[in-house]
Amino acid sequence: MFESFYGLSHTPFSRDIPTDQLYPSLMLEETLGRLEYAAQRQLFAVVTGDCGTGKTTTIRKFSEKLNPANFKVLYLSDSKLTPRHFYKGMLEQLGCEAKFYRGDAKRQLHREIELMRGIHHLHLL
Ligand SMILES: Nc1ncnc2c1ncn2[C@@H]1O[C@H](COP(=O)(O)OP(=O)(O)O)[C@@H](O)[C@H]1O
Ligand SMILES: [Mg+2]
Repeated sequence: MFESFYGLSHTPFSRDIPTDQLYPSLMLEETLGRLEYAAQRQLFAVVTGDCGTGKTTTIRKFSEKLNPANFKVLYLSDSKLTPRHFYKGMLEQLGCEAKFYRGDAKRQLHREIELMRGIHHLHLL
């Protein structure tokens, strides 16, 4: 409705803009480069910024262009995350049923990551 009023071909600011149609701002390109650097070296990276400045969109674009033969992306979104749920959530995404006790689940996750690295030559993100 407002799209035609403003002569827009698509609804702006929707969550599912195809990543090849995003505006390639300097900040987007710079952040993608830094994430690439961190991923190749298996470093920690934190993306910060005000609401609506494109953090999620940048990470969506980044994860789409990663080669799945080299990287596996795990995604957890929970503002009340406990260590137990962290291990459970990660293991579930790796297709494993998490052990009940936190310490066991932690060792289980470490083992799975080592297997992915050693046998499948996959990096985890
Ligand atoms: N590079 C971009 N080009 C076009 N639209 C963008 C771009 N980055 C973000 N947006 C738009 O802005 C909205 C808010 O971005 P989002 O990534 O959700 O912000 P944040 O996670 O920082 O709160 C997205 O839904 C998307 O529509
Ligand atoms: Mg976000």
